[in-house]
Amino acid sequence: MDKMWAGRFEKALDKMADDFNSSIHFDKKMYKQDIRGSLEHASMLCAVGILTAEELGLITEGLTSILDDLNNGVLTFDDNAEDIHMFVEAELTKRIGDAGKKLHTARSRNDQVALDLRLYMRDEARDIVALLRKLISSLLNQAKENKKTIMPGYTHLQRAQPITFAHHLLAYCMMLLRDITRIEDAIRRMNYSPLGSCALAGTTYPTDRDMVAKALGFDGVCMNSIDGVSDRDYCIELESAFATVMMHLSRLSEEIILWSSWEFKFVELDDAYTTGSSIMPQKKNPDMAELVRGKTGRVYGDLMATLTMLKGIPLAYNKDMQEDKESIFDATETVKKCLEVFVPMIATMKPIPENMYNAAKRGFINATDLADYLTKRGLPFRTAYKIVGTIVGKCVKENKTLDELTIEEYKKYSDIFDTDLYDEISLESCVGKRISKGSTGYTSVEEQIAYVEEQLK
Ligand code: ARG
Repeated sequence: MDKMWAGRFEKALDKMADDFNSSIHFDKKMYKQDIRGSLEHASMLCAVGILTAEELGLITEGLTSILDDLNNGVLTFDDNAEDIHMFVEAELTKRIGDAGKKLHTARSRNDQVALDLRLYMRDEARDIVALLRKLISSLLNQAKENKKTIMPGYTHLQRAQPITFAHHLLAYCMMLLRDITRIEDAIRRMNYSPLGSCALAGTTYPTDRDMVAKALGFDGVCMNSIDGVSDRDYCIELESAFATVMMHLSRLSEEIILWSSWEFKFVELDDAYTTGSSIMPQKKNPDMAELVRGKTGRVYGDLMATLTMLKGIPLAYNKDMQEDKESIFDATETVKKCLEVFVPMIATMKPIPENMYNAAKRGFINATDLADYLTKRGLPFRTAYKIVGTIVGKCVKENKTLDELTIEEYKKYSDIFDTDLYDEISLESCVGKRISKGSTGYTSVEEQIAYVEEQLK
């Protein structure tokens, strides 16, 4: 196929170089956005008198038929076209003749690709926000069912203090809610139209950039045409937000993997989201969670690739920038697929409260509460801490839990101890007595549930 830009050249592009240069195999993803942008560009060209109404009619009809044919598979992408923009324009001219050749007036592929990618990523980012909301709902439902499910809370992966499973899951709801705001922030900042920046310096035609921007749902136009065609900040912001989402999913994956092990057995994943082994008949593996944990690195890599691709290129457009797409498409698809599989995996996950409770019973998880018991009755906290430490040491030696010591034994360490201590260090009261805002206490957990519900509205 003759290149659109062939005029200046005496020789055709080498076949290998042509393939190397071509981006249609990945930028064809943006065909809807490309056509949508061209439709609005053409309307604007007509409104300012550059195209006649008749030409606009032909272009509109031609582009719409191309869109329909691509949607229905009647038309397939030509792998010899350099990119999606060239493909659509060539196809249009094939269909409507000379009017098609006027579409690219007052536009360059530099602002065209900048527009297409913004439109594409705005749609994708909104889809990801919707998926995040679904995942938060799944977690919230599990939290609501497990308001009374007591489990060990950990630090250093050592049993630390009793918490409820609800409280633990709500922590993830908070992270994912912040992820949504990060993506929404990025969308707000990117929502300006680069179209009309042209190659880099703007145009001599009396275009109406605001008209196109408005029609495409932007909040305005990029104010500097050089920036308009060079800016990929939004790719970095989105990839960074996606990387953060993946990091959160990966942490939760790691917990789910631990919780599903025989060592913990805090949850049972649904058969539909686990796999077996080809040799060990007993195995039920949490592959989905492991894959999400594994794919996190890919998304980090995509962010790094974009940052590195951009760091050395002078203004304005350089072909390096074609590399923005494969990275951000990969990051987008990966985070979407991970969220899609996570939503039902969480919704169908069955907690095993007895195991969580039994784990919480061992490990002196109520030792802080025993120290608080003494402190509330007049001992300085450090003194109380020391006494309880000694008692824990004795229990470790005798393989006992704190509630198995008799009151006489307790009295040997301090005569402040009385029989009401047993009530105070029960797991239920350790959780129930936590009254600070944001704590694992029952009232606080209700507040957190209400907060998440409010944010999801
Ligand atoms: N396929 C190119 C890209 O993705 C489109 C812009 C090409 N512009 C140019 N002047 N070669 O970046």
